[in-house]
Amino acid sequence: MKGIILAGGNGTRLDPLTRAVSKHLLPVYDKPMVYYPLATLMLAGIQEYLLISTPSDLPAYQRLLGDGSQFGIHIHYAEQSQPRGIAEALIIAERWLAGQPVALILGDNIFHGQGLRQLLNEIRERHMTQEGATIFAYEVAEPSRYGVVVLNEHGAPETIVEKPQTPISNLAVPGLYFFDQRAAGFAQKLMPSARGELEITDVNRRYLEKRCLNVVPLGRGIAWFDAGTTDALLDVTHYMA
Ligand code: TTP
Repeated sequence: MKGIILAGGNGTRLDPLTRAVSKHLLPVYDKPMVYYPLATLMLAGIQEYLLISTPSDLPAYQRLLGDGSQFGIHIHYAEQSQPRGIAEALIIAERWLAGQPVALILGDNIFHGQGLRQLLNEIRERHMTQEGATIFAYEVAEPSRYGVVVLNEHGAPETIVEKPQTPISNLAVPGLYFFDQRAAGFAQKLMPSARGELEITDVNRRYLEKRCLNVVPLGRGIAWFDAGTTDALLDVTHYMA
């Protein structure tokens, strides 16, 4: 399995912090933000990485992380010329993936907690032999900011919606997704959403329609932060401190 770290975007909600510095290079306590999603995928036992960022920010990530050998991994780099949506990462990575399953993590998503290594390793191992996608569900107070999933009484997904205006569930989908080799093909066929993006939620919905979307609820033992706002950045910094 290969890993993609998506670290582009505009970071407008953190302006002016992000005017001259890429969001994922901002400090979270004692480390640049991007260390945390990288560490999450390393916990899952992944060795091969593609870091995707903007043409102007990519050199800073290369200076910071190099070829990954200091961490015992391999890091490659690719540009996303415009923030056309999270699902575009799968299209950019398609040739590099060469038909392998992939874990895609957003550069501002931070996971921490007991049992994360075991959970992620189990998911990676399952994906080495089984087809499908695995996403997570995390209870939040403001689900309208996220992709949201509705589970039935057996814990199986019924619906998945990007930033629903009317509440359908309080289960947000964090920015960590495990996909089989079909994901890039599904992404290639997407049309931009009403907000003009290639939505990762639409890729997840393709797996749901094919009845091979697994949803793993993250319990109280695991904390998840989307560090894209000033308040969330402060919260996660305090948490890590
Ligand atoms: P967002 O937080 O949705 O977007 P953003 O980072 O541009 O921030 P803002 O909304 O404040 O302008 O993106 C989630 C993550 O995905 C973030 O780490 C950036 C990354 N991303 C890309 O790298 N490329 C993209 O095209 C998009 C949409 C997001």
